[in-house]
Amino acid sequence: MDVKGIFGFKGKNVVISGSASGMSKEATELLIELGANVYAVDLNEIKLPVKAAYRANLGKKEDVDAWIDTLPDTVDAVFMCHGINGNPGIANAVLTINFFSVQYIVARLMDRLSERASVSIISSCGGYGWQAIYPHVQDLLAATTWEECQEWFEKNKDNTAICNPNSPYGTSKQLINCYVANKCMDPQFIAKRIRINSICPGMTNTALTDDFNRGAGGGDSKAGAQNIFQIFQSMWNGYNAEAREMGYPLVVVGSQICSYMSGQNIYVDMGCCTSWDTGAILNPGVNPLEAAISEK
Ligand SMILES: NC(=O)c1ccc[n+]([C@@H]2O[C@H](COP(=O)([O-])OP(=O)(O)OC[C@H]3O[C@@H](n4cnc5c(N)ncnc54)[C@H](O)[C@@H]3O)[C@@H](O)[C@H]2O)c1
Repeated sequence: MDVKGIFGFKGKNVVISGSASGMSKEATELLIELGANVYAVDLNEIKLPVKAAYRANLGKKEDVDAWIDTLPDTVDAVFMCHGINGNPGIANAVLTINFFSVQYIVARLMDRLSERASVSIISSCGGYGWQAIYPHVQDLLAATTWEECQEWFEKNKDNTAICNPNSPYGTSKQLINCYVANKCMDPQFIAKRIRINSICPGMTNTALTDDFNRGAGGGDSKAGAQNIFQIFQSMWNGYNAEAREMGYPLVVVGSQICSYMSGQNIYVDMGCCTSWDTGAILNPGVNPLEAAISEK
């Protein structure tokens, strides 16, 4: 059996963000190995033998537009992996980088996506509980322009039913999950049988780890690491994943191996969020993640 061939990436045009580091770097290396023509973008320098590497701040519309102008006319797979941690003071930047830019990039690439293309996004366990906001964000999910997303933010930034004031990061990841759930049945996606999924990683050792720790510890990295352990790992005496343990599953999800899978937000977390689900069943109405965040 041609094992590499079953991924279906040989000679295909693949667009990926965040390739300078962490999970995306691992995914990018695998895509190159599988024979894809990789068009990679990051804020920082990408030191991988991709077809084209581009430096851009995806939190800025003009950078995104300039980058998209360099991409090929046909795109077979899109992997959206860039992201930052977020504290309450920078909600607009967090939502813009982690979600609005993703929605905008996919909308701009829609005409170039081939039949049976795939869109795969890195969300997070931090997006757990996304179903609660889904009915309230339909207007945002219909947006296709950068400006509509910014207007939506101004209108909704103080609406705590949607935007968690303690965790703009969590809100940004909930929005990704809502987006995946919504777009899998969007006529534009259906017309060309385009699949869309996300992976939702648990805590993973990357360049973001220290940011997460400091955020969760009010600036104290060690205390934050303990808080994070309490929320994500204490129930299974767990440990952080390595970047490859996210990058590789992401590539599989976007590959032909998963050709009949769409609309899924897949938790890659050793069962952490499932344990929150079972807890929620035992205690209806309690979201353990929200409870853990508001206790801090
Ligand atoms: N590390 C974790 O524990 C964890 C857990 C769940 C989800 N995630 C998500 O995984 C994804 C990958 O992160 P990672 O953990 O590999 O971290 P990372 O910092 O190693 O990789 C993120 C990459 O995104 C790039 N990036 C950030 N902001 C950008 C911008 N404005 N424009 C262009 N590029 C930008 C960075 O330069 C970096 O190369 C992110 O979306 C993150 O939210 C991480």
